[in-house]
Amino acid sequence: MSIRDAFSLEGETAIVTGAAQGLGKQMASGLAEMGADVVIADINYANAETTATELDGETDVVPFEVDVTDESSVEGMVEEVTDQLGPIDVLVNNAGIVEQSPAEETELDSWKRVLEVNLDGVFLCAKHVGIQMLERGEGKIVNIASMSGFDVNVPQKQASYNASKAGVSMLTKSLAVEWADHGVRVNAIAPGYMRTDLVDEVLEENPEMEETWLENTPMGRLGRPEELRELVVYLGSDASSYMTGSTVVMDGGYTAR
Ligand SMILES: NC(=O)c1ccc[n+]([C@@H]2O[C@H](COP(=O)([O-])OP(=O)(O)OC[C@H]3O[C@@H](n4cnc5c(N)ncnc54)[C@H](O)[C@@H]3O)[C@@H](O)[C@H]2O)c1
Repeated sequence: MSIRDAFSLEGETAIVTGAAQGLGKQMASGLAEMGADVVIADINYANAETTATELDGETDVVPFEVDVTDESSVEGMVEEVTDQLGPIDVLVNNAGIVEQSPAEETELDSWKRVLEVNLDGVFLCAKHVGIQMLERGEGKIVNIASMSGFDVNVPQKQASYNASKAGVSMLTKSLAVEWADHGVRVNAIAPGYMRTDLVDEVLEENPEMEETWLENTPMGRLGRPEELRELVVYLGSDASSYMTGSTVVMDGGYTAR
């Protein structure tokens, strides 16, 4: 197979959760550019619709309303997407939230909310898309973890987020090992600070944080969301055929220090 063919997603169907904006939107655009039909699966249907219209081009890009924390909603997504676009070849588990507060002041509800979206959501989507992939004996899953799953970033206090993302990397390894001999590969991406709405919201409340972040990032800048496109295509295509269970860090050198 040529390298060009290995990276191609021609004729494949991909779901990207939380793709209405931010990193998910950029990754969806990368998968579409390489030939996949892409489902913009998000709890915010209005945004998903706008994004799908924007990205719709050579391939089908369709919006879908899903709550990744709700098992029946996830099951419905798998069923409807399969009816509409055929079986799912690529799943990108990207939907995620962050809540920041010192651990001793964090309400249990807040802790649970973060874990529910960031970890239960990845599990539920991987499980139900995984059932179909295992039946077909093929499929690629890419989970969006974070450098916060390896390093305790400062100055923000976000124990629930950090723990959830460490969980995503370990869940990635666990699924990868369980499904390795069934043709289903599971990898993760751990981005560093990328300039998205989620990050902008945090910086709006705490503008002084950016200075600390930049000081701690050897490359001296935040990442651009579109810089994730090539990596998700690599992990979602045959180009990464001997990779499973890896979390690939892309953080401008932050965790290398
Ligand atoms: N931005 C960064 O610097 C950064 C760094 C490391 C990891 N990440 C991770 O990347 C992912 C995307 O981050 P982002 O910055 O693009 O965030 P974002 O807030 O811009 O986008 C997240 C999307 O997820 C959707 N979503 C939230 N809850 C959902 C649910 N229950 N079901 C379905 N969709 C839901 C939101 O509607 C939104 O469209 C997250 O998992 C985040 O933790 C981001």
